[in-house]
Amino acid sequence: MINKKDSKKKIKRANYLSASQSLNIARHNRKMMRHFEKRNNRKNVPESEYLAEMKKPGNVVEFDDLHTYFFTDAGTVKAVDGVSFDVPLGKTVGVVGESGCGKSVTSLSLMQILQRPIGQIVSGSIRFDTGSKVYDIAKMPSEKMQKIRGNNISMIFQEPMTSLNPVFRIGTQVDEIIKLHNPEMDKEEIKARTIEMLEMVSIANCEGVYRMYPHELSGGMRQRVMIAMSLACSPRLIIADEPTTALDVTIQAQILDLLRNLKDKINSSIMLITHDLGVIAEMADYVVVMYAGRIVEKGTANEIFNHPSHPYTIGLMASKPSVNKRVERLYSIPGKVPNPINMPDYCYFRDRCEKRFGRCDGPYPNEYNLSPTHSTHCYLYADDQEERQDG
Ligand SMILES: Nc1ncnc2c1ncn2[C@@H]1O[C@H](COP(=O)(O)OP(=O)(O)O)[C@@H](O)[C@H]1O
Ligand code: SF4
Ligand SMILES: [Mg+2]
Repeated sequence: MINKKDSKKKIKRANYLSASQSLNIARHNRKMMRHFEKRNNRKNVPESEYLAEMKKPGNVVEFDDLHTYFFTDAGTVKAVDGVSFDVPLGKTVGVVGESGCGKSVTSLSLMQILQRPIGQIVSGSIRFDTGSKVYDIAKMPSEKMQKIRGNNISMIFQEPMTSLNPVFRIGTQVDEIIKLHNPEMDKEEIKARTIEMLEMVSIANCEGVYRMYPHELSGGMRQRVMIAMSLACSPRLIIADEPTTALDVTIQAQILDLLRNLKDKINSSIMLITHDLGVIAEMADYVVVMYAGRIVEKGTANEIFNHPSHPYTIGLMASKPSVNKRVERLYSIPGKVPNPINMPDYCYFRDRCEKRFGRCDGPYPNEYNLSPTHSTHCYLYADDQEERQDG
């Protein structure tokens, strides 16, 4: 039996909120959500308010100091807290980091499909080049976003079963998407195009699969169907969020092969989100490493894999299984990600970092450039080396 004294102690340790704290949080949340929802739901907003210009013409997407928060009962979760990176045209950018570090929220912000009203883009820009115009999606009212979603950007999710409708045949579902993007096509043409798409993603027996229901297909086949659907609108950008995580290893390799081949054929950019550096190594031209809502390192794939610099990236590399290496036990980075509601004001990785030194007790480190394309937020690379040694 737990006595009263013990349970009181436990409550204190668990850091429960008092009634007045909860009330304050609820009041603050209501105010914030009302403010942002009013912004999102505005009607007849002149286009000039969300038209933008790319900083670099070769980019499809530019995230610029993006902040996306969730206003929860326990407090504000700063899921994405000042993220900046580019997705160049025709390239694959891998976004990697442990679970919960803000990868999905970054892409959901870009699609404007955050769980509202609690999830909101609070500040920053997401510039997206549609080919004819550049929009700042962070400023775009919800009603305008529908056209971009599906027409210019498509998304492949981790679990295709949740995205396919179980009560309709595969053919009907792909036809529907083709029809949406090609209203001038008749029934025959639509079906022919659907079969062509299914062939493109290397589905054998396309005619048979056309008549099947999702539950009759394996996970790998369902993922191929999802990829076919995502290509139907010839998107400028494909977001693939853990596209192979639910699949077993051989199927994973096949799906990655497929994505790689398709990318060359369709000339889209891919934003590939995964916790698995192995997947990134197979696919990415550029790599963005996220930790606790921020980017800790970014660079070309070559720079990140051959010269990983941030201790977190080095830890991720060490915890990646390899077929050529015999190890007794896989390395895992010790410690936990800090509580997203109360982030510290020093380097977020400090409490897990084996390389920490005096200066790391200072404020969150700035971005230090290691090459024109490679940068990291870590005091080990601070410009003034002397100060580092002093610390
Ligand atoms: N709907 C939500 N409500 C509250 N918090 C959320 C919600 N979605 C995501 N978060 C929080 O945002 C942070 C980032 O989540 P996410 O982007 O999904 O991580 P991942 O890198 O695994 O994709 C996590 O701390 C998560 O708990
Ligand atoms: S700033 Fe210090 S604590 Fe943070 S990652 Fe670099 S060495 Fe480690
Ligand atoms: Mg995720």
